[in-house]
Amino acid sequence: MTKFPGIMATDQTGDVVPPSLSAKSVGSFAYLTVRDRLPTILTKVIDTIHRNKNKFFEEYGEEGIQAEKQTISLLSKLRNELQTDKPILALTDGLDDADAWNRYLQRQTDQHEDQEVSWFKSPWLYVECYMYRRIREALWLNPPISDYDVFNEGKTQSYFESQQATITLCTYFESFNKNMENIPDNLLCEYFNKLLQVSLWGNKCDLSISAGVDNSQKASPIESLAAFKLFILVDDSDSLWSTLVTTRQQTQSGKGRSCRVDFVLDNAGFELVTDLVLADFLLSSGLAQEIRFHGKSFPWFVSDVTVEDFHWTIRQTMAANHRSMSQTGVRWQQYMKEGVWSYHDHPFWTHPHEFCDMEANAPDLYATLQTADLVLFKGDLNYRKLTGDRDWDHTVGFDTALRGFGPAPLCSLRTLKANVQVGLQPGRGNKLSSQEPDWMTCGKYAVIQFHNPNPDKQD
Ligand code: F6P
Ligand code: MG
Repeated sequence: MTKFPGIMATDQTGDVVPPSLSAKSVGSFAYLTVRDRLPTILTKVIDTIHRNKNKFFEEYGEEGIQAEKQTISLLSKLRNELQTDKPILALTDGLDDADAWNRYLQRQTDQHEDQEVSWFKSPWLYVECYMYRRIREALWLNPPISDYDVFNEGKTQSYFESQQATITLCTYFESFNKNMENIPDNLLCEYFNKLLQVSLWGNKCDLSISAGVDNSQKASPIESLAAFKLFILVDDSDSLWSTLVTTRQQTQSGKGRSCRVDFVLDNAGFELVTDLVLADFLLSSGLAQEIRFHGKSFPWFVSDVTVEDFHWTIRQTMAANHRSMSQTGVRWQQYMKEGVWSYHDHPFWTHPHEFCDMEANAPDLYATLQTADLVLFKGDLNYRKLTGDRDWDHTVGFDTALRGFGPAPLCSLRTLKANVQVGLQPGRGNKLSSQEPDWMTCGKYAVIQFHNPNPDKQD
């Protein structure tokens, strides 16, 4: 007897699991994404490179122009492969992660012997990740523009368009940050919940779902919270708070080491600002003593944070023409200098694997996460990777969908932008589906979903 309703599939270990979401299912969100949204993103990438032709010429002369032409030609070929459902090709750029990608392709081929590995027939998670890796390849093969970030303009614009919201958030935070040591726990918990929810809703601002169209934060992030509360479908923030408080007690009583919280980041722009403010709060409240940020090692899913975006955001915040905002930025820079904040970008974050593969495929990263006291996974794509992007029944537990992934207590902070959702009360998913057919993809709903792989360690 299987635990899951519907048609089952077997994964490479022989486990019975629900099938991966795929563009195979005509009319599904995966299908519409592969058919419409991904080609739109590729067309924008091509336009951006073309628009920057003069810049490449100024910087690199004729070589820059040649690189621009050849990159566009590779990207047009990629778009054509996608639109005509051609087989997924092995990578040829010889970059460090190329072998891992090619092994993954081989694994897909072995698993589905009866069927070609192609854009519309293979798992959506795989082909969507692969598109960003092929953009990387097209650029990499064309020096001197190999490291050009085609998504940089959009990320920068989204940061500037959210400036007012950033000022409001920094001003709010600075208003109690000065006095943090006198704040009683009940009030501290209130502030924590507010900043957690701001970081949660910050995830609305990604540029992939809107295929690159402006999605920045315009309203006051604090005032909007009460109205948004209704749309949080799973709210495990109490468990999150008790994890932090228990760790703090252990630290204070000398039983435990200091507390480290890891952020697996998602998008640059306003979302990153909200994550940095939450991280700042965790430090200044004494709930954590160290923060590690994990970002992407190349431009990914349009708006995801790279190391350049991370440092640029801190510098911009420092340089802002607003007191609270620049004070906040200066403190962030100081945290980086002191090493209490650090940025890391393991290649696994830009692989197509679901996270239950991490222990076998990136044991060093898994071991790093095991030494964290709490890991916060931001955003939709991380949720898809946590749950394997499978057609789970909505009532299946988060623990089950994680399929053994649990390096440390972890929490997903995610607005729903893809049709996978687990851990709902019976009937909730069906009710939502009948009232709002696009509830899983419209970005209006969210979850704060927690999992502790080792609850006994908390006591
Ligand atoms: O293209 C679809 C998608 O993967 C969705 O899951 C999501 O809308 C977006 O891209 C990425 O969202 P996020 O930035 O929240 O991970
Ligand atoms: Mg993203």
